[in-house]
Amino acid sequence: MESNRLLEMLQAHQGEYISGEELSRRLSISRTAVWKQINKLRQEGYEFEAVSRKGYRLVHAPERIQSAEVLSQLRTKAFGQPLHVLEVVKTTQEELRRLAEQGAPEGTLVIAEEQTLGRGRHGRKWYSPAGQGIWMSLLLRPGQPIVFAAQLTLLTAVAVCRAMRKVSGADVGIKWPNDLLVQGKKLCGILVESISEDELLKYCIIGIGIDVNLHQEDIPEKLRSVATSLRIESGARQDRAKLIAEIMHELEQLYDLYKQEGFAPISHLWEALSVTIGQRVKIRTPEGELGGLATGLDSTGALLMTDDHGKARTIFSGEIQLGR
Ligand code: BTN
Repeated sequence: MESNRLLEMLQAHQGEYISGEELSRRLSISRTAVWKQINKLRQEGYEFEAVSRKGYRLVHAPERIQSAEVLSQLRTKAFGQPLHVLEVVKTTQEELRRLAEQGAPEGTLVIAEEQTLGRGRHGRKWYSPAGQGIWMSLLLRPGQPIVFAAQLTLLTAVAVCRAMRKVSGADVGIKWPNDLLVQGKKLCGILVESISEDELLKYCIIGIGIDVNLHQEDIPEKLRSVATSLRIESGARQDRAKLIAEIMHELEQLYDLYKQEGFAPISHLWEALSVTIGQRVKIRTPEGELGGLATGLDSTGALLMTDDHGKARTIFSGEIQLGR
């Protein structure tokens, strides 16, 4: 799209002027078409300074997630496109499921500024206030056996963790299976929902929720001891569009790696970023609470631990508590 390429050029000039003539030449469109695209971006909340004989300069990008801004930073083959940026939805999971049923391709991404019925794991609610987080769902059509869904949650955690570290510099780690934490407080959750057919995954919906720019006071009081945000931990406001594009890049790279080499390399990356392995953990099981030392992942992505009686255990699902 012309407005994406135009934005890319103005962003690359980092607030410097670029003449209408040069824009028109580089985009191979008329000066009037440049002006029209500038106006289109203005309607989306971008502010430009236009000075005769100097040209245009980007002075302010809106706080909202703009599809043009995400698309212009995407470095992927498929992930992140088609892109749907919505204002308020119940949950992006359902929005994407609807598109998936209509035949949307792998890589389709739905992002919302706000969710009114955000969904967490274990049937919990996911707090998703307007404008400060990333609430998004990505569609995959893996055609893999059902066991892949568990591995996909771990793969996603690695991708999001790497992207968050890279963009913000915060010391993000993974708690099994896929919570992202800084200093023991959660700032991202991942929910993978799958539809299968004949023992194979028909499609997977990867839901990613990140507390990006929330201040301390934006976090509900009852969650403050256990939740944080990237802004609180990094000390700076973060560019959500950039983080989304980086997550898509990391996810696509790891997904390709998985398809070529299987789960082993993903598992190693996961272990390297984990704050679980080598720690004392507690887990609630149908037989009661189980304490022990987390030792690693097995080949399916299940957690291996040695319980307090020295017995080796394999944990396939559930929620663990660290260091108790
Ligand atoms: C968890 O409980 O840790 C998982 C939280 C997942 C939240 C994300 S936000 C985007 C997507 N839409 C939802 O309703 N949930 C997921």
